[in-house]
Amino acid sequence: MAAPSCRALLAACLVLQLATARGEGCSGFGNVFTEIPENSAHGSLVARLPAGGDAGGPALQLCLAGTDAAWFYLDGRSLRLNASAGRALDREELESPVLMVALTCAEDGFAPVEYRVIVQVLNENDNRPRFRGEPVLTHNVSELVAVHSVVFSTQAEDADGDLLMYVIDASSPDARFFRIDLPNSGRVVLARALDFESRQRLEVVVTAVEMNTKERFNTSARVRVNVLDGDDQYPRFLPCAPPDPPGVCISPVYTANVTEGELTGSPLRFSPGSIYAEDGDRGLRAAITYSLLAGEESARFHIDNATGAITLLRAVESSRRTPAISLSVMASQVNDATKYAVAVAVVRVLATNRHPPRFARPAVRAFVPAGAREAALVTTFGGHVLALRAHDPDFPE
Ligand SMILES: *[C@@H]1O[C@H](CO)[C@@H](O)[C@H](O)[C@H]1NC(C)=O
Ligand SMILES: *[C@@H]1O[C@H](CO)[C@@H](O)[C@H](O)[C@H]1NC(C)=O
Ligand SMILES: *[C@@H]1O[C@H](CO)[C@@H](O)[C@H](O)[C@H]1NC(C)=O
Ligand SMILES: *[C@@H]1O[C@H](CO)[C@@H](O)[C@H](O)[C@H]1NC(C)=O
Ligand SMILES: *[C@@H]1O[C@H](CO)[C@@H](O)[C@H](O)[C@H]1NC(C)=O
Repeated sequence: MAAPSCRALLAACLVLQLATARGEGCSGFGNVFTEIPENSAHGSLVARLPAGGDAGGPALQLCLAGTDAAWFYLDGRSLRLNASAGRALDREELESPVLMVALTCAEDGFAPVEYRVIVQVLNENDNRPRFRGEPVLTHNVSELVAVHSVVFSTQAEDADGDLLMYVIDASSPDARFFRIDLPNSGRVVLARALDFESRQRLEVVVTAVEMNTKERFNTSARVRVNVLDGDDQYPRFLPCAPPDPPGVCISPVYTANVTEGELTGSPLRFSPGSIYAEDGDRGLRAAITYSLLAGEESARFHIDNATGAITLLRAVESSRRTPAISLSVMASQVNDATKYAVAVAVVRVLATNRHPPRFARPAVRAFVPAGAREAALVTTFGGHVLALRAHDPDFPE
């Protein structure tokens, strides 16, 4: 056997007996630069080695060696692709899109010569764009985000390196809230104002489409937008008075009774319910503090700034002079005093009831005509109609 040196030098090489044109031998070869599309079938021709001669020339031994050598095999003078169903030539899977093999040629009586075979693997559009992350992308967006500003960014990638553009699927449920101004940026812009109080979750479909390929592969992602509550609502007193227009909360008028001259020391009981306000931002529910706006009689009361409970500090002397006291109660957010609401609390002063009513006279005498039927006048001695009078010193009028 000729040239055992080849096998000795490169243990992994493939050996082939080849005859070349008379006299040329290994020097008829040269470096090979070529290219092949990815996903080519097994056996595809990669390169033809220099034209061989007739039989009878010197026997040559050719070896392929190097880390990429397993991608090729020699078939006579043809260098062919070695691929299989489970091992396709996938440019995106290769460490480098250029495969390099050493072709060694050994000839009896000469030192082996090494040539380079350099094969560039050409790209095909064999990958669709893909969105990064979960199948459903989630973004949290504050309801206070300005219209026309970027609310989130979607990024898809394409293993073939194709240019992508992004479009919003107009048929997706909340497409009207969003817009993409620069199609290849993936930046999604808010097209109309968000409102946590009416919608807490929106859904939109964004599609990434290849721009520069004939296949124009595309892929879509569902994007869920959680609308976060922003501080855009004021406190409101509860229970709301019958709403008009709907959705509006009108503060109730709270009423309570006190009795003149009395001081119980316990909080007043208000109707239609205790004085209570809460933040209109349901997602935030900022803490509320209560206070009484200064007024003629406000010093007579104390309000608990945390609970809104109102206590009378000094008794009201006379219900006749002061039949009712009107207080202005303010509820404001602890974290932002400019967000407040004011409600009216009316404290009615009832007269003390110390005396029972009394008839003017302990006994009266009167007459009815004899033989009177169902209805007859009862008269006094003087012939006047009997009138009974009672009197209560607590209620002179
Ligand atoms: C072809 O590739 C397969 C799988 O890598 C390998 O086992 C085989 O040896 C290769 N054939 C040649 C001729 O290199
Ligand atoms: C959105 O907010 C929720 C909690 O409110 C959180 O669990 C989630 O991680 C947030 N998602 C993103 C994408 O920021
Ligand atoms: C995405 O591709 C499908 C076919 O695969 C096509 O029907 C659809 O119109 C494409 N969508 C876009 C936005 O290009
Ligand atoms: C206050 O007294 C009036 C009668 O004088 C009564 O109708 C009303 O229910 C009382 N209000 C409360 C809150 O007790
Ligand atoms: C409520 O009143 C207490 C003292 O009575 C005070 O220390 C506290 O700061 C007040 N809270 C607010 C929010 O005004």
